[in-house]
Amino acid sequence: MRQAGRYLPEYRALRAQAKGFFDFCFSPDLAFEATLQPVRRYDLDAAILFSDILVVPYGLGQKVWFEEGVGPLLEPIADADELKRFEIKRMIDRLQPVYETVKRLKAAMPPEISLIGFAGAPWTLASYMVEGGSSRDYAKAKLWAYGRPESFRKLIDLLVDAVTAHLEAQVKAGAEVLQIFDSWAGALDHAAMRQWSLEPIGRIVARLKQSAPDVPVIVFPRGIGPGYRDFAEAGIGHAIGIDQGIDPAWARDVLQRKTTVQGNLDPRWLVVGGAGMRDAVLRILDALGAGPLVFNLGHGVVPETPPEHVAELVSLIRTER
Ligand code: CP3
Repeated sequence: MRQAGRYLPEYRALRAQAKGFFDFCFSPDLAFEATLQPVRRYDLDAAILFSDILVVPYGLGQKVWFEEGVGPLLEPIADADELKRFEIKRMIDRLQPVYETVKRLKAAMPPEISLIGFAGAPWTLASYMVEGGSSRDYAKAKLWAYGRPESFRKLIDLLVDAVTAHLEAQVKAGAEVLQIFDSWAGALDHAAMRQWSLEPIGRIVARLKQSAPDVPVIVFPRGIGPGYRDFAEAGIGHAIGIDQGIDPAWARDVLQRKTTVQGNLDPRWLVVGGAGMRDAVLRILDALGAGPLVFNLGHGVVPETPPEHVAELVSLIRTER
């Protein structure tokens, strides 16, 4: 997930070779290596492509850059009129280095380790595109979504098309599993979550079912609490990623009957390690380990994580599952 590599010294060394973060994402040599670093170190079942969700707005033609110590910045859009200059065909052309990376990874990785491609969900991408970067309250994006829904729908519809095309291109290049990150779904009220998170993600997944029927899709609408039930009942995706706020017993009773669950260790346990982390892992395995589960964190690895704690976590799961 986001920032996942930053706790690894070998990642920081590789990162220092690229000028900007996007130069890193768009260098097949560097992105290939960054993807494989965690699999070289640990006994993992899968690797996630090294890229970022913001390559989609960049590819469409929006100005996007990363500022050291600040995070991502974008030249914000404020109205549906501004969407005319965005083009999906240009996006696919501009993102060729990403697909080249996928192709090389697919050829190099052992078949028992799955290669995960990914994209941001329309709502999370829209929030960055409208806010011009990360946001505390999503004030501008929500004002547009709640205040002018017909106009906001145009942005979401464009992103449904763009995200679908980007995911299909990754599958064509060799991605074996897909994950859709709706990191800020939890900022919306329940009805708006259904309208701007669940419904657009549902449309993307339905299209992928046609174009890539053999590729499982993990959906991760973060922070939506009981809204996860809506995703499970709507049958969206092959697995649902849950954040650490969800009680694993609730996830077993309500979600796991219908779908595979992915989650949900609080990434901070990986900083703490030891007996506390072990107990937290066992609480998840006790509740969810008898059903379909992809063990994962509830969000990304934080930079302060000691790499040894990740090794401890992996061996714990290998022995306890
Ligand atoms: O985990 C991985 O390294 C796999 C690739 C990956 C990245 N970003 C690399 C990255 C993935 C899957 C993402 C997803 C992503 N990017 C999300 C969704 C997941 C989540 O965290 O909720 C979001 C919201 C983003 C947007 C984004 N990218 C932000 C807000 C930032 C800045 C973070 C900060 O604190 O500076 C990024 C940058 C980013 N993306 C980094 C990495 C490794 C750090 C950049 C660096 O190395 O300097």
